[in-house]
Amino acid sequence: MGARRVDRRTLLKLGLLGIPATVAAAGSGLAYVWAGADIDTAGKVSFTNRLAVPPLARGRRDGAGRRVFDLRIAPGRHRFRPGRPTATWGVNGAHLGPTLRAARGETVLLRVRNGLPEATSLHWHGMRLPAAMDGGPHQPIEPGHTWLPTWRIDQPAATLWYHPHPHGRTTRHLYRGVAGLFVVDDPTTGPDELPHRYGVDDIPVIVQDKRFHADNRLDESGPTMSGAGPVGDTISVNGTLTPYFDVTTEHVRLRLLNASSTRVYRFGLDDDRPFALVATDGGLLAEPCRTNRVQLSPGERAEIVVAPEPGQRLVLRSHPPRLGLDPWNRRFAGGDDTLDILQLRAANHLKPSAPLPERLADVPRPDTSAVAATRTFSLSGNQINGREMDMARIDFAVTRDTTEIWEITADDGAPHNFHVHDAQFQVLTIGGAPPPESLRGWKDTVHTPPNTPVRLALRFHDHTDWRTPYMYHCHLLQHEDQGLMGQFVILEPGDRLGGAHTGHAD
Ligand code: C2O
Ligand code: CU
Repeated sequence: MGARRVDRRTLLKLGLLGIPATVAAAGSGLAYVWAGADIDTAGKVSFTNRLAVPPLARGRRDGAGRRVFDLRIAPGRHRFRPGRPTATWGVNGAHLGPTLRAARGETVLLRVRNGLPEATSLHWHGMRLPAAMDGGPHQPIEPGHTWLPTWRIDQPAATLWYHPHPHGRTTRHLYRGVAGLFVVDDPTTGPDELPHRYGVDDIPVIVQDKRFHADNRLDESGPTMSGAGPVGDTISVNGTLTPYFDVTTEHVRLRLLNASSTRVYRFGLDDDRPFALVATDGGLLAEPCRTNRVQLSPGERAEIVVAPEPGQRLVLRSHPPRLGLDPWNRRFAGGDDTLDILQLRAANHLKPSAPLPERLADVPRPDTSAVAATRTFSLSGNQINGREMDMARIDFAVTRDTTEIWEITADDGAPHNFHVHDAQFQVLTIGGAPPPESLRGWKDTVHTPPNTPVRLALRFHDHTDWRTPYMYHCHLLQHEDQGLMGQFVILEPGDRLGGAHTGHAD
């Protein structure tokens, strides 16, 4: 790893202007870079901008009873800061996209038009669906073309999301602003007893870190001092910098999504009051988990219910995450940073909220008495088990309606996590120990601390397709782009992959 770029602000902070960056970065200069590389904005953010809430899209019914959503991905200009607007990409708007909402049992049809000057794709992260509808690297959408995935939603209520997944280019497409929430409701488990008025007491909190040039352009240069990936110094929530939200109810539900490239956040409130963690990636926990911290690596979600006092100003803050990394890797992955994210401004009189239910959902523990296969995955450099992603190679096949155990170990001292398409899994053990309460619900993405095996139980239900693979990969986007990814297919019982089988790399 080399000192490839030294941030001008870092030098300014250190009074090093006048010394060429290359000199400052070399040799003993590294000590100065080190000292300036952590960020602490606790208590220093002005919170001057009202939080933007992405529009809620419920779609329309077509003649066949499907819920149809029209999405157009296109370039735009978004006003992040005073002065010039920033060139961005978005869905049905300049930056980010609407919150899509549909219910279990419904068939959805997404009409995704690519208005960008290059091919992209749109992946439904966390969704159980046929591989050909998944929106991964095998379903590119050429400029000017429309892609029409359709599937029947069949999974518990959850906060899922969508983002591009073009092979090798996901970091840039997501960073420019193509992302949004996909909320699944589940009428089969009864009414939502948690706060559920969208934009009033049920709020998306899409957290991304950005870097801006002085003229407000997005800084898209690569990472500085480590191989973790790009880390920004400015936090955007739903596309709003220094945001506040006016709370009008006793309870407010925040749907937290880490849509950043590299950063891991460890959310808490500035007065350290506890809150209720009610859901993780794939749905509600069995019961609310009272805690004062929730850590999310890229791609992970959490729903929390916060109860501010009337008139109070509470700050959602990210504390230094527990990454388990050595000091160098930690610092340059943003692991020493404290960041003020969002101010909650409670009204002097708060409307009553229903008490939190004691039970939230049935989350059956996985039955591991009959395991069809146990697989191990070693993440190192840009490789999983010594191989980089190859669009034309299927790494393995799983069988429909079976349970597998996957054990993932990050072996190279770098920060990683692990995401599997189509499956919501459960964490069995982390480093041999049972997971904390906060990781006992449905997950599709999990942080993998260095040299610590993380064992997952996965069940593959339906959607067999020998031709079209699903992905598994590190969701630190630069790693994903550089090849830390593999592919599997789901087969019917009794079927096997042929020896010469390759996927069709479109
Ligand atoms: Cu959120 Cu394969 O991605
Ligand atoms: Cu990684």
